[in-house]
Amino acid sequence: MSKLSLAIVLAAGESKRMKSKTPKVLHKIAGRTVIENLLAAVQPIAPKKLTVVVGAHKDAVIQHLDEIYPAATTVFQEKRNGTGAAAALALAQAKGDGTVLILAADTPLLTTQTLQEFLAAHQSEKNSASVLTALLPDPTGYGRILRGSDGKILKIVEEKDATDSERDNDEINTGVYLFELPVIKSVINQLQSDNAQQELYLTDVIELLNKSGESSYAILSNDYTETLGINDRSQLAECAAIMRDRINYQHMQNGVSIIDPTTTWIDAEVEIGEDVIIYPGSVIEGKSKIKSQAVIGPRTTLDSCAVGEGAKVIESHCTDSKIGAGAKVGPFTYLRKGSVLKDESKAGAFVEIKNSTVGQGSKVAHLSYVGDAQIGDESNIGAATIFVNYDGEQKHKTKVGDHVRIGSDTMLVAPVTVGDGAYTAAGSVINEDVPAGAIGIGRTKQVNILGWVLRKRGSSKSAAAAKKAGAKE
Ligand code: UD1
Ligand code: CA
Repeated sequence: MSKLSLAIVLAAGESKRMKSKTPKVLHKIAGRTVIENLLAAVQPIAPKKLTVVVGAHKDAVIQHLDEIYPAATTVFQEKRNGTGAAAALALAQAKGDGTVLILAADTPLLTTQTLQEFLAAHQSEKNSASVLTALLPDPTGYGRILRGSDGKILKIVEEKDATDSERDNDEINTGVYLFELPVIKSVINQLQSDNAQQELYLTDVIELLNKSGESSYAILSNDYTETLGINDRSQLAECAAIMRDRINYQHMQNGVSIIDPTTTWIDAEVEIGEDVIIYPGSVIEGKSKIKSQAVIGPRTTLDSCAVGEGAKVIESHCTDSKIGAGAKVGPFTYLRKGSVLKDESKAGAFVEIKNSTVGQGSKVAHLSYVGDAQIGDESNIGAATIFVNYDGEQKHKTKVGDHVRIGSDTMLVAPVTVGDGAYTAAGSVINEDVPAGAIGIGRTKQVNILGWVLRKRGSSKSAAAAKKAGAKE
Protein backbone atom coordinates (compact mmCIF):
# COMPACT_ATOMS: atom_id res chain seq x y z
CA MET A 1 0.00 0.00 0.00
CA SER A 2 1.34 3.38 -1.01
CA LYS A 3 2.18 5.90 1.63
CA LEU A 4 1.67 9.60 1.56
CA SER A 5 3.50 11.78 4.11
CA LEU A 6 1.73 15.01 3.43
CA ALA A 7 -1.09 16.51 1.40
CA ILE A 8 -1.09 20.25 0.72
CA VAL A 9 -4.34 21.82 -0.41
CA LEU A 10 -4.09 25.30 -1.89
CA ALA A 11 -7.10 27.38 -0.90
CA ALA A 12 -5.83 30.89 -0.32
CA GLY A 13 -6.82 32.47 -3.63
CA GLU A 14 -9.03 35.52 -3.93
CA SER A 15 -11.68 33.75 -6.07
CA LYS A 16 -11.90 36.96 -8.10
CA ARG A 17 -13.60 35.30 -11.05
CA MET A 18 -16.48 34.07 -8.84
CA LYS A 19 -17.53 37.67 -8.07
CA SER A 20 -18.83 36.50 -4.70
CA LYS A 21 -18.65 37.40 -1.03
CA THR A 22 -18.16 33.67 -0.44
CA PRO A 23 -14.79 32.14 -1.36
CA LYS A 24 -15.11 29.63 -4.17
CA VAL A 25 -14.04 26.71 -2.01
CA LEU A 26 -17.12 27.30 0.17
CA HIS A 27 -19.58 27.30 -2.71
CA LYS A 28 -21.58 24.10 -2.84
CA ILE A 29 -21.79 21.16 -5.19
CA ALA A 30 -24.16 18.31 -4.39
CA GLY A 31 -24.69 19.64 -0.88
CA ARG A 32 -21.01 19.73 0.01
CA THR A 33 -18.63 22.61 -0.35
CA VAL A 34 -16.09 22.52 -3.14
CA ILE A 35 -13.27 21.86 -0.67
CA GLU A 36 -15.33 19.26 1.20
CA ASN A 37 -15.75 17.29 -2.03
CA LEU A 38 -12.02 17.45 -2.62
CA LEU A 39 -11.15 16.41 0.93
CA ALA A 40 -13.62 13.52 0.74
CA ALA A 41 -11.58 12.23 -2.21
CA VAL A 42 -8.24 12.79 -0.45
CA GLN A 43 -9.13 11.39 2.99
CA PRO A 44 -9.17 7.67 2.03
CA ILE A 45 -5.58 7.86 0.74
CA ALA A 46 -4.73 8.74 4.32
CA PRO A 47 -2.01 11.35 4.16
CA LYS A 48 -0.15 11.37 7.49
CA LYS A 49 -0.69 15.10 7.59
CA LEU A 50 -2.93 17.45 5.65
CA THR A 51 -2.21 21.16 5.42
CA VAL A 52 -4.55 23.67 3.86
CA VAL A 53 -3.11 27.00 2.77
CA VAL A 54 -5.68 29.67 3.58
CA GLY A 55 -5.71 33.36 2.76
CA ALA A 56 -8.67 35.23 1.39
CA HIS A 57 -11.73 34.70 3.67
CA LYS A 58 -9.49 32.67 5.97
CA ASP A 59 -11.74 32.74 9.03
CA ALA A 60 -14.67 31.26 7.13
CA VAL A 61 -12.48 28.60 5.54
CA ILE A 62 -10.82 27.65 8.86
CA GLN A 63 -14.18 27.44 10.62
CA HIS A 64 -15.48 25.18 7.88
CA LEU A 65 -12.39 22.96 8.07
CA ASP A 66 -12.90 22.58 11.81
CA GLU A 67 -16.31 21.14 11.03
CA ILE A 68 -15.45 18.88 8.12
CA TYR A 69 -11.81 17.87 8.59
CA PRO A 70 -10.66 18.70 12.11
CA ALA A 71 -7.35 16.91 11.59
CA ALA A 72 -6.31 19.46 8.94
CA THR A 73 -3.70 22.03 9.86
CA THR A 74 -3.73 25.43 8.20
CA VAL A 75 -1.04 27.80 7.03
CA PHE A 76 -1.87 31.44 6.40
CA GLN A 77 -0.75 33.01 3.13
CA GLU A 78 -0.95 36.72 3.78
CA LYS A 79 0.09 37.90 0.35
CA ARG A 80 -1.68 36.04 -2.46
CA ASN A 81 1.32 35.94 -4.73
CA GLY A 82 0.73 32.64 -6.44
CA THR A 83 0.39 28.90 -6.12
CA GLY A 84 4.18 28.53 -5.77
CA ALA A 85 4.28 30.90 -2.82
CA ALA A 86 1.34 29.10 -1.23
CA ALA A 87 2.96 25.68 -1.58
CA ALA A 88 6.28 27.05 -0.24
CA LEU A 89 4.61 28.17 2.98
CA ALA A 90 3.23 24.70 3.66
CA LEU A 91 6.46 22.99 2.61
CA ALA A 92 8.50 25.18 4.97
CA GLN A 93 6.93 23.27 7.86
CA ALA A 94 7.51 19.82 6.35
CA LYS A 95 10.51 17.80 7.37
CA GLY A 96 12.10 14.50 6.39
CA ASP A 97 11.30 12.55 3.25
CA GLY A 98 8.32 10.77 1.79
CA THR A 99 5.84 11.72 -0.89
CA VAL A 100 3.84 14.94 -0.85
CA LEU A 101 0.60 15.48 -2.75
CA ILE A 102 -0.11 19.06 -3.72
CA LEU A 103 -3.47 19.99 -5.16
CA ALA A 104 -5.73 22.98 -5.65
CA ALA A 105 -8.86 23.15 -3.55
CA ASP A 106 -10.98 24.07 -6.56
CA THR A 107 -11.13 20.68 -8.32
CA PRO A 108 -14.07 19.01 -6.55
CA LEU A 109 -14.64 16.20 -9.04
CA LEU A 110 -11.40 14.34 -8.39
CA THR A 111 -11.99 10.81 -7.13
CA THR A 112 -10.10 8.74 -4.62
CA GLN A 113 -9.53 6.11 -7.28
CA THR A 114 -7.75 8.54 -9.60
CA LEU A 115 -5.61 9.86 -6.76
CA GLN A 116 -4.76 6.31 -5.72
CA GLU A 117 -3.76 5.35 -9.28
CA PHE A 118 -1.70 8.53 -9.58
CA LEU A 119 0.11 7.79 -6.31
CA ALA A 120 0.68 4.15 -7.26
CA ALA A 121 2.18 5.19 -10.63
CA HIS A 122 4.39 7.83 -9.02
CA GLN A 123 5.73 5.44 -6.40
CA SER A 124 6.12 2.34 -8.56
CA GLU A 125 7.98 4.35 -11.23
CA LYS A 126 10.09 5.89 -8.46
CA ASN A 127 9.43 9.36 -9.85
CA SER A 128 10.59 12.36 -7.91
CA ALA A 129 8.01 14.62 -9.56
CA SER A 130 4.72 13.68 -11.24
CA VAL A 131 1.99 15.88 -12.65
CA LEU A 132 -1.53 14.62 -13.21
CA THR A 133 -2.54 15.79 -16.67
CA ALA A 134 -5.66 15.58 -18.82
CA LEU A 135 -6.67 16.05 -22.42
CA LEU A 136 -9.46 18.60 -22.50
CA PRO A 137 -11.82 19.24 -25.40
CA ASP A 138 -11.44 22.92 -24.52
CA PRO A 139 -8.19 23.57 -22.64
CA THR A 140 -8.73 27.34 -22.48
CA GLY A 141 -7.55 28.83 -19.18
CA TYR A 142 -5.45 25.90 -18.03
CA GLY A 143 -1.68 25.55 -17.90
CA ARG A 144 -0.36 23.51 -20.87
CA ILE A 145 2.03 20.60 -20.58
CA LEU A 146 5.06 20.82 -22.88
CA ARG A 147 6.71 17.45 -23.27
CA GLY A 148 10.13 16.61 -24.64
CA SER A 149 10.73 13.90 -27.23
CA ASP A 150 11.32 11.43 -24.37
CA GLY A 151 7.85 12.16 -22.98
CA LYS A 152 9.12 13.87 -19.83
CA ILE A 153 7.74 17.30 -19.05
CA LEU A 154 9.91 20.20 -20.19
CA LYS A 155 7.74 22.84 -18.60
CA ILE A 156 4.19 23.92 -17.84
CA VAL A 157 3.14 27.16 -19.42
CA GLU A 158 0.16 29.15 -18.20
CA GLU A 159 -2.49 30.23 -20.72
CA LYS A 160 -1.61 33.88 -20.20
CA ASP A 161 2.09 33.27 -20.84
CA ALA A 162 1.73 30.80 -23.70
CA THR A 163 2.53 31.39 -27.35
CA ASP A 164 -0.15 30.53 -29.91
CA SER A 165 1.48 27.21 -30.74
CA GLU A 166 1.84 26.33 -27.04
CA ARG A 167 -1.85 27.10 -26.58
CA ASP A 168 -2.74 24.65 -29.36
CA ASN A 169 -1.57 21.87 -27.07
CA ASP A 170 -4.56 20.38 -25.31
CA GLU A 171 -2.79 18.37 -22.61
CA ILE A 172 -3.33 20.43 -19.48
CA ASN A 173 -2.00 20.62 -15.97
CA THR A 174 -4.77 19.50 -13.59
CA GLY A 175 -3.03 21.21 -10.65
CA VAL A 176 -2.48 17.86 -8.90
CA TYR A 177 1.16 16.96 -8.22
CA LEU A 178 3.22 14.38 -6.36
CA PHE A 179 6.76 15.17 -5.30
CA GLU A 180 9.37 13.52 -3.17
CA LEU A 181 9.68 15.94 -0.31
CA PRO A 182 13.45 16.66 -0.41
CA VAL A 183 13.26 17.19 -4.18
CA ILE A 184 10.49 19.80 -4.13
CA LYS A 185 12.06 21.48 -1.10
CA SER A 186 15.32 21.91 -3.02
CA VAL A 187 13.71 24.14 -5.66
CA ILE A 188 10.52 25.66 -4.19
CA ASN A 189 12.28 28.76 -2.90
CA GLN A 190 13.88 29.57 -6.25
CA LEU A 191 10.67 30.57 -8.07
CA GLN A 192 10.58 33.94 -9.86
CA SER A 193 7.56 36.08 -10.67
CA ASP A 194 8.67 37.20 -14.15
CA ASN A 195 5.40 36.19 -15.81
CA ALA A 196 2.12 37.67 -17.03
CA GLN A 197 0.50 37.53 -13.57
CA GLN A 198 3.59 38.63 -11.62
CA GLU A 199 3.11 35.62 -9.37
CA LEU A 200 5.22 32.74 -8.13
CA TYR A 201 3.86 29.82 -10.12
CA LEU A 202 4.07 26.35 -8.60
CA THR A 203 4.16 25.08 -12.18
CA ASP A 204 7.60 26.65 -12.66
CA VAL A 205 9.19 24.06 -10.36
CA ILE A 206 9.20 21.69 -13.35
CA GLU A 207 11.78 23.80 -15.22
CA LEU A 208 13.78 24.30 -12.03
CA LEU A 209 13.82 20.54 -11.48
CA ASN A 210 14.98 19.96 -15.04
CA LYS A 211 17.84 22.42 -14.50
CA SER A 212 18.89 20.57 -11.36
CA GLY A 213 18.94 17.27 -13.24
CA GLU A 214 15.65 15.85 -11.93
CA SER A 215 12.89 14.61 -14.24
CA SER A 216 9.15 15.24 -14.07
CA TYR A 217 6.62 12.86 -15.49
CA ALA A 218 3.11 13.50 -16.74
CA ILE A 219 0.54 10.92 -15.75
CA LEU A 220 -2.53 11.25 -17.92
CA SER A 221 -5.88 10.96 -16.20
CA ASN A 222 -8.44 8.66 -17.85
CA ASP A 223 -11.41 10.90 -17.23
CA TYR A 224 -10.83 14.56 -17.92
CA THR A 225 -14.09 15.57 -16.24
CA GLU A 226 -12.54 14.71 -12.87
CA THR A 227 -9.94 17.36 -13.22
CA LEU A 228 -12.09 20.35 -14.15
CA GLY A 229 -11.37 23.33 -11.95
CA ILE A 230 -13.78 25.95 -10.72
CA ASN A 231 -12.85 29.56 -11.30
CA ASP A 232 -16.23 31.11 -12.14
CA ARG A 233 -19.95 30.43 -11.76
CA SER A 234 -20.36 28.75 -15.10
CA GLN A 235 -17.65 26.24 -14.19
CA LEU A 236 -19.38 25.78 -10.82
CA ALA A 237 -22.60 24.87 -12.63
CA GLU A 238 -20.74 22.65 -15.10
CA CYS A 239 -19.02 20.73 -12.31
CA ALA A 240 -22.29 20.46 -10.37
CA ALA A 241 -23.99 18.93 -13.42
CA ILE A 242 -21.20 16.37 -13.82
CA MET A 243 -21.43 15.53 -10.11
CA ARG A 244 -25.23 15.24 -10.43
CA ASP A 245 -24.90 12.78 -13.31
CA ARG A 246 -22.33 10.76 -11.37
CA ILE A 247 -24.55 10.56 -8.28
CA ASN A 248 -27.67 9.71 -10.29
CA TYR A 249 -25.80 7.04 -12.24
CA GLN A 250 -24.71 5.39 -9.00
CA HIS A 251 -28.27 5.35 -7.62
CA MET A 252 -29.62 3.92 -10.87
CA GLN A 253 -26.94 1.20 -10.71
CA ASN A 254 -28.21 0.46 -7.20
CA GLY A 255 -31.79 -0.05 -8.41
CA VAL A 256 -33.37 3.40 -8.14
CA SER A 257 -35.59 4.54 -11.04
CA ILE A 258 -34.83 8.14 -11.89
CA ILE A 259 -37.32 9.08 -14.56
CA ASP A 260 -35.46 12.19 -15.73
CA PRO A 261 -31.86 12.33 -14.47
CA THR A 262 -31.32 15.80 -15.93
CA THR A 263 -33.91 17.38 -13.64
CA THR A 264 -33.20 15.28 -10.57
CA TRP A 265 -30.64 16.70 -8.13
CA ILE A 266 -29.49 14.45 -5.32
CA ASP A 267 -26.86 15.48 -2.78
CA ALA A 268 -23.74 13.36 -2.31
CA GLU A 269 -24.69 11.97 1.09
CA VAL A 270 -28.28 10.95 0.35
CA GLU A 271 -29.14 7.24 0.77
CA ILE A 272 -31.81 5.64 -1.39
CA GLY A 273 -33.12 2.08 -1.26
CA GLU A 274 -34.00 -0.28 -4.08
CA ASP A 275 -37.05 0.24 -6.27
CA VAL A 276 -37.56 3.81 -5.25
CA ILE A 277 -39.04 5.86 -8.11
CA ILE A 278 -38.08 9.50 -8.44
CA TYR A 279 -40.16 11.60 -10.82
CA PRO A 280 -38.80 14.67 -12.67
CA GLY A 281 -38.00 17.95 -11.00
CA SER A 282 -37.11 16.52 -7.61
CA VAL A 283 -34.31 17.76 -5.33
CA ILE A 284 -33.10 15.53 -2.50
CA GLU A 285 -30.72 17.26 -0.17
CA GLY A 286 -28.61 16.91 2.95
CA LYS A 287 -28.46 13.52 4.58
CA SER A 288 -31.91 12.42 3.45
CA LYS A 289 -32.61 8.69 3.60
CA ILE A 290 -35.27 7.09 1.44
CA LYS A 291 -36.27 3.49 2.00
CA SER A 292 -37.19 1.03 -0.72
CA GLN A 293 -40.39 1.25 -2.80
CA ALA A 294 -40.96 4.89 -1.92
CA VAL A 295 -42.20 7.22 -4.67
CA ILE A 296 -40.87 10.77 -4.76
CA GLY A 297 -42.02 13.62 -7.00
CA PRO A 298 -42.65 15.02 -9.43
CA ARG A 299 -41.29 18.40 -8.30
CA THR A 300 -40.56 17.46 -4.71
CA THR A 301 -37.85 18.82 -2.43
CA LEU A 302 -36.66 16.71 0.49
CA ASP A 303 -34.00 18.31 2.66
CA SER A 304 -32.62 16.16 5.49
CA CYS A 305 -35.69 13.93 5.57
CA ALA A 306 -36.20 10.26 6.34
CA VAL A 307 -38.79 8.58 4.13
CA GLY A 308 -40.07 5.13 5.06
CA GLU A 309 -40.69 2.13 2.88
CA GLY A 310 -43.40 2.56 0.28
CA ALA A 311 -44.20 6.15 1.26
CA LYS A 312 -45.36 8.57 -1.45
CA VAL A 313 -44.34 12.21 -1.51
CA ILE A 314 -45.85 14.13 -4.43
CA GLU A 315 -45.22 17.80 -5.41
CA SER A 316 -44.17 18.73 -1.89
CA HIS A 317 -41.50 20.62 0.02
CA CYS A 318 -40.19 18.88 3.15
CA THR A 319 -37.31 19.75 5.48
CA ASP A 320 -35.93 18.00 8.57
CA SER A 321 -38.93 15.69 8.73
CA LYS A 322 -39.70 12.00 9.10
CA ILE A 323 -42.23 10.35 6.84
CA GLY A 324 -43.23 6.87 7.96
CA ALA A 325 -43.64 3.71 5.92
CA GLY A 326 -46.65 3.82 3.63
CA ALA A 327 -47.41 7.44 4.50
CA LYS A 328 -48.80 9.76 1.82
CA VAL A 329 -47.70 13.36 1.43
CA GLY A 330 -48.98 15.87 -1.11
CA PRO A 331 -49.64 17.10 -3.58
CA PHE A 332 -48.65 20.58 -2.43
CA THR A 333 -47.71 19.82 1.16
CA TYR A 334 -45.19 21.76 3.22
CA LEU A 335 -43.50 19.77 5.99
CA ARG A 336 -41.29 21.97 8.12
CA LYS A 337 -38.64 21.13 10.69
CA GLY A 338 -39.66 18.53 13.22
CA SER A 339 -42.65 17.04 11.40
CA VAL A 340 -43.04 13.35 12.13
CA LEU A 341 -45.62 11.44 10.10
CA LYS A 342 -45.97 7.94 11.50
CA ASP A 343 -46.57 4.89 9.34
CA GLU A 344 -49.60 4.92 7.02
CA SER A 345 -50.50 8.49 7.92
CA LYS A 346 -51.40 11.23 5.48
CA ALA A 347 -50.69 14.93 4.95
CA GLY A 348 -52.67 16.01 1.92
CA ALA A 349 -53.11 19.00 -0.35
CA PHE A 350 -52.28 22.45 0.98
CA VAL A 351 -51.34 21.22 4.42
CA GLU A 352 -48.48 22.81 6.39
CA ILE A 353 -47.02 20.95 9.36
CA LYS A 354 -44.31 22.12 11.75
CA ASN A 355 -42.78 20.52 14.85
CA SER A 356 -45.65 18.05 15.17
CA THR A 357 -46.33 14.35 15.21
CA VAL A 358 -49.15 12.81 13.20
CA GLY A 359 -49.85 9.36 14.62
CA GLN A 360 -50.05 6.08 12.82
CA GLY A 361 -52.88 5.99 10.29
CA SER A 362 -53.99 9.53 11.12
CA LYS A 363 -54.95 11.92 8.35
CA VAL A 364 -54.62 15.64 7.82
CA ALA A 365 -56.08 15.52 4.36
CA HIS A 366 -56.81 19.05 3.21
CA LEU A 367 -55.98 22.73 3.71
CA SER A 368 -54.75 22.69 7.31
CA TYR A 369 -52.00 24.14 9.48
CA VAL A 370 -50.61 21.85 12.19
CA GLY A 371 -48.05 23.50 14.47
CA ASP A 372 -46.57 22.23 17.76
CA ALA A 373 -49.08 19.39 17.95
CA GLN A 374 -49.12 15.81 19.03
CA ILE A 375 -51.78 13.84 17.17
CA GLY A 376 -52.45 10.25 18.25
CA ASP A 377 -53.18 7.22 16.09
CA GLU A 378 -56.08 6.75 13.64
CA SER A 379 -57.40 10.27 14.07
CA ASN A 380 -58.87 12.47 11.35
CA ILE A 381 -58.25 16.16 11.17
CA GLY A 382 -61.03 17.70 9.05
CA ALA A 383 -60.37 20.05 6.16
CA ALA A 384 -59.20 23.58 6.98
CA THR A 385 -58.41 22.84 10.61
CA ILE A 386 -55.92 25.26 12.14
CA PHE A 387 -53.80 24.48 15.16
CA VAL A 388 -53.67 28.00 16.60
CA ASN A 389 -50.28 27.71 18.30
CA TYR A 390 -49.18 31.33 18.56
CA ASP A 391 -50.66 33.93 20.89
CA GLY A 392 -48.61 36.73 19.42
CA GLU A 393 -45.78 36.22 21.88
CA GLN A 394 -45.37 32.53 22.59
CA LYS A 395 -45.98 29.18 20.96
CA HIS A 396 -48.22 26.64 22.72
CA LYS A 397 -48.86 22.94 22.30
CA THR A 398 -51.95 20.99 21.29
CA LYS A 399 -52.63 17.34 22.05
CA VAL A 400 -55.10 15.29 20.09
CA GLY A 401 -55.68 11.69 21.21
CA ASP A 402 -56.32 8.46 19.32
CA HIS A 403 -59.40 7.92 17.10
CA VAL A 404 -60.36 11.59 17.32
CA ARG A 405 -62.54 13.28 14.70
CA ILE A 406 -61.77 16.96 14.40
CA GLY A 407 -64.57 18.60 12.39
CA SER A 408 -63.75 20.72 9.35
CA ASP A 409 -62.68 24.28 10.00
CA THR A 410 -61.94 23.75 13.67
CA MET A 411 -59.65 26.25 15.37
CA LEU A 412 -57.74 24.42 18.11
CA VAL A 413 -56.50 27.27 20.29
CA ALA A 414 -53.40 26.05 22.13
CA PRO A 415 -52.67 25.06 24.79
CA VAL A 416 -55.54 22.60 24.48
CA THR A 417 -56.11 18.84 24.64
CA VAL A 418 -58.68 16.75 22.82
CA GLY A 419 -59.07 13.36 24.52
CA ASP A 420 -59.16 9.91 22.94
CA GLY A 421 -62.20 9.19 20.82
CA ALA A 422 -63.50 12.78 21.12
CA TYR A 423 -65.11 14.84 18.34
CA THR A 424 -65.21 18.55 17.61
CA ALA A 425 -68.08 20.08 15.69
CA ALA A 426 -67.26 21.62 12.30
CA GLY A 427 -66.50 25.33 12.51
CA SER A 428 -65.71 25.26 16.22
CA VAL A 429 -63.23 27.40 18.06
CA ILE A 430 -61.94 25.01 20.70
CA ASN A 431 -60.16 26.78 23.54
CA GLU A 432 -61.06 24.44 26.36
CA ASP A 433 -60.02 20.81 26.66
CA VAL A 434 -62.43 18.25 25.20
CA PRO A 435 -62.64 15.15 27.43
CA ALA A 436 -62.34 11.65 25.95
CA GLY A 437 -65.51 10.61 24.17
CA ALA A 438 -67.09 14.11 24.27
CA ILE A 439 -67.95 16.38 21.38
CA GLY A 440 -66.70 19.93 21.69
CA ILE A 441 -68.97 22.48 20.08
CA GLY A 442 -67.63 26.01 20.05
CA ARG A 443 -69.79 28.04 17.67
CA THR A 444 -72.84 30.26 17.83
CA LYS A 445 -76.22 28.71 17.20
CA GLN A 446 -77.49 29.21 13.69
CA VAL A 447 -80.41 31.62 13.10
CA ASN A 448 -82.50 31.65 9.84
CA ILE A 449 -84.28 34.95 9.06
CA LEU A 450 -87.08 33.88 6.73
CA GLY A 451 -87.79 35.95 3.61
CA TRP A 452 -84.80 38.23 4.15
CA VAL A 453 -83.59 38.01 0.51
CA LEU A 454 -87.04 38.77 -0.86
CA ARG A 455 -87.31 41.87 1.36
CA LYS A 456 -83.75 43.22 1.15
CA ARG A 457 -82.66 42.05 -2.35
CA GLY A 458 -86.04 41.96 -4.00
CA SER A 459 -84.89 42.59 -7.60
CA SER A 460 -81.97 40.10 -7.51
CA LYS A 461 -81.70 36.78 -9.33
CA SER A 462 -81.42 35.20 -5.89
CA ALA A 463 -84.84 36.59 -4.97
CA ALA A 464 -86.31 35.27 -8.24
CA ALA A 465 -84.85 31.82 -7.59
CA ALA A 466 -86.16 31.87 -4.02
CA LYS A 467 -89.68 32.84 -5.19
CA LYS A 468 -89.63 30.04 -7.73
CA ALA A 469 -88.75 27.67 -4.89
CA GLY A 470 -91.82 28.91 -2.99
CA ALA A 471 -90.17 31.34 -0.55
CA LYS A 472 -92.41 34.05 0.93
CA GLU A 473 -91.56 37.59 2.16
C1 UD1 B 1 -3.66 26.59 -11.80
C2 UD1 B 1 -2.33 26.21 -12.49
C3 UD1 B 1 -2.65 25.75 -13.90
C4 UD1 B 1 -3.63 24.59 -13.87
C5 UD1 B 1 -4.88 24.93 -13.07
C6 UD1 B 1 -5.68 23.67 -12.85
C7 UD1 B 1 -0.59 27.64 -11.54
C8 UD1 B 1 0.28 28.82 -11.77
N1 UD1 B 1 -1.46 27.34 -12.51
O1 UD1 B 1 -4.21 27.68 -12.52
O2 UD1 B 1 -1.45 25.35 -14.56
O3 UD1 B 1 -3.97 24.23 -15.19
O4 UD1 B 1 -4.52 25.46 -11.78
O5 UD1 B 1 -6.93 23.95 -12.27
O6 UD1 B 1 -0.46 26.98 -10.54
N2 UD1 B 1 -4.00 29.75 -4.54
C9 UD1 B 1 -3.39 30.02 -3.34
N3 UD1 B 1 -2.58 31.11 -3.24
C10 UD1 B 1 -2.34 31.96 -4.26
C11 UD1 B 1 -2.96 31.67 -5.51
C12 UD1 B 1 -3.78 30.55 -5.63
O7 UD1 B 1 -3.57 29.28 -2.38
O8 UD1 B 1 -1.60 32.91 -4.08
C13 UD1 B 1 -4.89 28.59 -4.64
C14 UD1 B 1 -6.29 28.96 -5.10
O9 UD1 B 1 -7.13 29.21 -3.99
C15 UD1 B 1 -6.73 27.74 -5.88
C16 UD1 B 1 -5.42 27.13 -6.35
O10 UD1 B 1 -4.38 27.73 -5.61
O11 UD1 B 1 -7.42 26.81 -5.08
C17 UD1 B 1 -5.19 27.36 -7.84
O12 UD1 B 1 -5.20 28.76 -8.07
P1 UD1 B 1 -5.98 29.38 -9.30
O13 UD1 B 1 -5.83 30.85 -9.25
O14 UD1 B 1 -7.32 28.82 -9.41
O15 UD1 B 1 -5.05 28.81 -10.48
P2 UD1 B 1 -5.46 28.58 -11.97
O16 UD1 B 1 -5.42 29.87 -12.70
O17 UD1 B 1 -6.71 27.78 -12.05
CA1 CA C 1 -8.23 27.10 -10.63
